[in-house]
Amino acid sequence: FYINFIKDDRYTWLLDGLKNTMIITVFALLIGICIGFLVAIIRSSHDKSGNFKIANSICRVYLTVIRGTPTVIQLLIMNFVVFGSVSVNEILVGSLAFGINSGAYVAEIVRSGIMSIDQGQTEAGRSLGLNFTQTMRLIIIPQAFKNVLPALVNEFIVLIKETSIIGYIGMMDLTKGAMLIQSRTYNAFMPLLAAAAIYLIVVMVLTFFMNKLERRLRTSER
Ligand code: ARG
Repeated sequence: FYINFIKDDRYTWLLDGLKNTMIITVFALLIGICIGFLVAIIRSSHDKSGNFKIANSICRVYLTVIRGTPTVIQLLIMNFVVFGSVSVNEILVGSLAFGINSGAYVAEIVRSGIMSIDQGQTEAGRSLGLNFTQTMRLIIIPQAFKNVLPALVNEFIVLIKETSIIGYIGMMDLTKGAMLIQSRTYNAFMPLLAAAAIYLIVVMVLTFFMNKLERRLRTSER
């Protein structure tokens, strides 16, 4: 098997797949973080001021539906219903579906971070004459971000591996690449093991940089 693996270029399917996996993960991550922070800020500001009434209701529905239904179904709906009649790049479909999905989880992670910051911080900011946006941007979010970083890294790792279902809409990612090799060699174990090793390496690299970032954010505290 190993000889064949080197001689043939089937392993390039894994590498091509990895490229798509990474592209989708990065875009989904960005979309997820934007949605997540927005929803979290709306949800946590609602309690205090009574503002954002309608926005808060929309966010609640969003969280309920997205977290309550399987990601596969959301991906299929995005592909066959939302973009059903137009032909768009699968990368766009995948990034949107995973980004919207991830945003719901990120929102609750960030909200827990915002709530972990003492109410006095908001009051101090407002007393200094900062408005709501400035208080959030300059005082609350920087502190909250530090607290939620480990949970966010968890979410990123889940997201990386969750993209393996992109094969459902016919796109070739790392897992699909492994399954294509399986269909040629009738051997499921080796290609999937190789894919697993690649996922492991990607996650380890990500964790390494995130730990570095966390350390840096902590030192600037003092
Ligand atoms: N795989 C499960 C699902 O289909 C869980 C997904 C969790 N996603 C996340 N971004 N934390 O619903």
